[in-house]
Amino acid sequence: MKESTQDAWRIRYGSEPPENLNQFGTLLNHRSVRKFTNEQVPESTIAGLVACAQSAATSSNLQAWSIVSVQNPENRASIAALCGNQKQIIGASWFFAFMADLNRLCTFAESKADAIDTVEMYSVAVIDAALAAERMVVAAESIGLGICYIGAIRNKPDEVKELLRLPTHTFPVFGLCIGVPDESAKAAIKPRLHQEQIWFRETYAETLDVDEYNQRAAEFFGNQGMANDATWAQKSAVRASNNGLSGREHLQSFLDKQKLNQR
Ligand SMILES: Cc1cc2nc3c(=O)[nH]c(=O)nc-3n(C[C@H](O)[C@H](O)[C@H](O)COP(=O)(O)O)c2cc1C
Repeated sequence: MKESTQDAWRIRYGSEPPENLNQFGTLLNHRSVRKFTNEQVPESTIAGLVACAQSAATSSNLQAWSIVSVQNPENRASIAALCGNQKQIIGASWFFAFMADLNRLCTFAESKADAIDTVEMYSVAVIDAALAAERMVVAAESIGLGICYIGAIRNKPDEVKELLRLPTHTFPVFGLCIGVPDESAKAAIKPRLHQEQIWFRETYAETLDVDEYNQRAAEFFGNQGMANDATWAQKSAVRASNNGLSGREHLQSFLDKQKLNQR
């Protein structure tokens, strides 16, 4: 059963919600879903979701993104293996690789597009892909579907490139699982930092405080049976270390080969 928007706020922040939250529909109720039922999401529904994704704003209307759906079971198993064997990739009704895609632009702009290898154009394409994906996610969640992003698609980009036959000037930014959530393994809404920690007024904050969030996060993971001695801050620091990148510390050499993000 879906939490009320007010309850979702309470879980996010551990505080009482303001009025008028209902107007935000299911937006506060997001959680990543890692267990799906066997029910297939019809292609017609997916076509609607893709239209939602394509309705996202896109820098200069460049539409510098694309998706590869991976439905063939053998290919799905291969992509799951390349993404750390995460079970939700096999279990999802649909799996999409989301690409930052400047290849299309290259094919028609040819030598005129002589800044295609810049950080700016790379950023444009990655932002476009992320905005499109998140709109697809919001739409999917609004009709009761569940999703899980898969950043692990960047673990072994050369192998992903070969499997999906990606041309140069493309970059697999993340994968996206979509399916019907298995309510018997219902995912929980996760607390977030208080708004004062991310919403600064006029100028950036002089001091940051994550202690309060460390505590709420520890309580949350304890209640989920995932108690851990490390705090959220400590776990986040590991995630941003060379040991925590699962191979992604070498992405620059992949981007070099893809002729992206060079200057
Ligand atoms: C770009 C991106 C990549 C992610 N990659 C993975 C992944 O590979 N595997 C996974 O289980 N979750 C992945 N996630 C989900 C995050 O772990 C999740 O969003 C975060 O822990 C917050 O939890 P919530 O989505 O349930 O609120 C990813 C999320 C994003 C935005």
